[in-house]
Amino acid sequence: MPAAVLVGAQWGDEGKGKATDLLGGDVDYVVRYQGGNNAGHTVVIGDQKYALHLLPTGILSPEVVPVIGNGVVIDPGVLLSEIDGLAARGISAERLLISANAHLIMPHHKALDKVTERYLGKARIGTTGRGIGPAYGDKIARMGVRVQDLLDPGILTKKIEVALTEKNQVLTKVYNRRGIDPAAVLEEYLAYAERLKPHIADTSLVLSKALDEGKFVLLEGGQGTLLDIDHGTYPFVTSSSPTAGGACAGAGIPPNRLTKIIGILKAYTTRVGSGPFPTELEDEMGEWLRTTGGEYGVTTGRNRRCGWFDAVIARYATRINGITDYFLTKLDVLSGLERIPVCVAYEVDGVRHDEIPMTQTDFHHAKPIYEELPGWQEDITSAKSFDDLPPNAQAYVRALEEMSGAPISAIGVGPGRDQTLQIRSLV
Ligand code: GDP
Ligand code: IMO
Ligand code: MG
Repeated sequence: MPAAVLVGAQWGDEGKGKATDLLGGDVDYVVRYQGGNNAGHTVVIGDQKYALHLLPTGILSPEVVPVIGNGVVIDPGVLLSEIDGLAARGISAERLLISANAHLIMPHHKALDKVTERYLGKARIGTTGRGIGPAYGDKIARMGVRVQDLLDPGILTKKIEVALTEKNQVLTKVYNRRGIDPAAVLEEYLAYAERLKPHIADTSLVLSKALDEGKFVLLEGGQGTLLDIDHGTYPFVTSSSPTAGGACAGAGIPPNRLTKIIGILKAYTTRVGSGPFPTELEDEMGEWLRTTGGEYGVTTGRNRRCGWFDAVIARYATRINGITDYFLTKLDVLSGLERIPVCVAYEVDGVRHDEIPMTQTDFHHAKPIYEELPGWQEDITSAKSFDDLPPNAQAYVRALEEMSGAPISAIGVGPGRDQTLQIRSLV
C-alpha cells in the first residue's frame, strides 16, 4: 500500500543517491519520476563507488525492481552504456522497467541545448548540456518522441522526419549549425529499440498492482526543490518538477498513495550552474567547503558553488513538498569549524524577509542574515548513533530541525552505506 517520495530540498546533489540506496533493503520498487541524465547520484558501498545518471538507485539492491517512470526524459544511448557499465561490474539490469510513455532525448535536443546556451552568453543557465530542456520543451509542445514509438518503426520514422524538418531549419538557419540526417537517427534509434524492448512496460499499471499487493514503492527524485520548473529559481532551473507534487504525475500513481515525503538536506548548501544563491561563499571558506565536501559535479565535473546552510530555503522545501522527514547529509564535512553561520532570514533593500521573496529581482538582491552556532572539532565519521555526536553537533542538528520545520530522522556522517545515524524509521 505505501509509497514514499524522496526529494532534494535544495539545488540538487544533497545525497539522494545515498539515501535511496539506504532504503533499498526496505522497499520493493524504486522509481525515477523526472529529469534525465542531468542527474548524478553517487552511492558508495564498501570500497565500490557508483555514479548513476538515468538508472534508479534501486538497481544496486538485488531485491528491488528499478523503474524509469513516464516523467523522465531518456537518452537511450546513455541508458544502454550505463547498463553495460554496471554489467561489467557484475550488476544486472534485467529487472529494469521503462515506462512506454517516457520521452526520448534525440540528437537535436542535445545540439539545441548546447547552441542555445552558447547564444545566451552571460545569461546562460549553465545546463548540463544533455538535451533536457529541449526534450521537455518538445514534450509540452506535443512534438516529442516517446519510448513506445521505438516499438513501431513506421511511427518512429514519421516522428523523426517531422521533428527534424523543423529542427534542422532552426539549427541551420538560426544557429548556423549543420543539419541532422533523419536516416542516421532512425538507424541509431532502431538499434536502441532492439535492446530496450524487453524493458518497456505500462509502469503505472505495474506500480498500481504492486501497491494493491502491499508492496512498498519509493519514488526517487532527481535535482531538487529550488531547481523545480514552477517552484525553483526560474529561469535558473531544470525543465521538470522534482518537487513532491511532480512525483505522482511522473510515476503515474495517485497522491493518496503517498505516506511519507522524505527531504534530503545537506548540512550546508551547494549549487551547480547559474542563478541566485544568497549564502554562496566566494572566498577561501567556500573553497574549503568544496575541497572538504568533495563538491565537484558527478555529471559534468564542474566545481559546485558552496555556501552556508540556508534555513529560509529549508522551510520553503518543507512547505512546498510537505516534508514528513528530513535526511540531513554531510554533517561530517563541518567538523573542525569554530563557529558555523546559518542563514535564518534575508535582507532585501533594508527589509527583513523570513520567506523567499516573491520576485526574481528581490531574490537576486537577498542578503543572508546569519546566526552563528558553535562548531565542534571531533571527527564524527565513525559515530553510530545521535548520542555519539559531540554536544555542539547535536545542537546544530536540533537547531536546523527547529528552523526547517520538519523532523530530522537520519543523519549522514560519511558517504558510506553504514555512515548513517538513524533517529527514526524513514519508511
Ligand atoms: P545526489 O545527486 O543528491 O544523489 O548527490 P550527489 O551524489 O551528486 O552528491 C552527494 C555527494 O556526497 C556524493 O559524493 C556522496 O557520496 C556524498 N555523500 C552523501 N552523503 C554523505 C555524507 O553524509 N557525508 C559525506 N562526507 N558525503 C556524503
Ligand atoms: P542531481 O539529481 C545539481 C542544474 C544544472 C543547471 C540547471 C539546468 O544529481 O541532484 P539542465 O541540464 O537540467 O537543463 O540544467 O539545473 N542541474 C543540477 N544541479 N544536481 C543535479 O542533479 C542537476 N541537474 C540539473 O547545473 O544549473
Ligand atoms: Mg548529483
